Amino acid sequence: MVRVGVLVSGRGTNLQALIDAEARGELGARIVVVISNRAGVPALERARRAGIPAVVLERRAFPSRQAQEEAIVACLRDHQVDLVVLAGYDRILGPTVLAAYPLRIINIHPSLLPAFRGTLQAQRAALEYGVKVSGCTVHFVTEEVDGGPIILQRVVPVYDDDTPETLAARILAEEHRALPEAVRLFAEGRLRVVGRRVVILPAPALAGTSGEDRANRST
Ligand code: GRF
Repeated sequence: MVRVGVLVSGRGTNLQALIDAEARGELGARIVVVISNRAGVPALERARRAGIPAVVLERRAFPSRQAQEEAIVACLRDHQVDLVVLAGYDRILGPTVLAAYPLRIINIHPSLLPAFRGTLQAQRAALEYGVKVSGCTVHFVTEEVDGGPIILQRVVPVYDDDTPETLAARILAEEHRALPEAVRLFAEGRLRVVGRRVVILPAPALAGTSGEDRANRST
């Protein structure tokens, strides 16, 4: 089973969507640790409630950003993490973590990338720009901020009377579907990165086509 480590900084609704998907048996992966760069945030409480180890590694507890990232990598390795998920993590990852998990880190961003990248207020930016649709993007994390290969996108309409808050809420509902789905596809080994593109392989056929196949499988 693929072992997932989730990096968070705040309220943790995307983490909760992952926890709930796992509880429903839909994640195909196990969340083994949650790491926050901020103490006392709701995401930590969500992890604890689900019985997941919750670790705080604040920047100020370390002499440098690199030292903090080394501690993050050590914690991920301690928990034998295969896939790192950034779920509302509010810092750009440096080379230490990226090098430890190449194409094994995914992020969720509340816009249709490459529009409105690199901002913590992508929903407000989309509204101010006047786009008629927006949405969310799950992508692999590379050194280019919000620029890694795209795994999934989900689209929502933008309405004339939207505020940043109403648009953010509509996008968030789609984030909560997209992120667990991307983790499941990764866990099923169905993501192939070809240059900038992520090809999603078809789901393997469920049972064998012949009775003999089924009989063999059940023994
Ligand atoms: C989400 O909008 C996510 O796309 C962005 O940060 C927000 C985190 O929300 N990266 P939450 O902490 O998961 O509730």
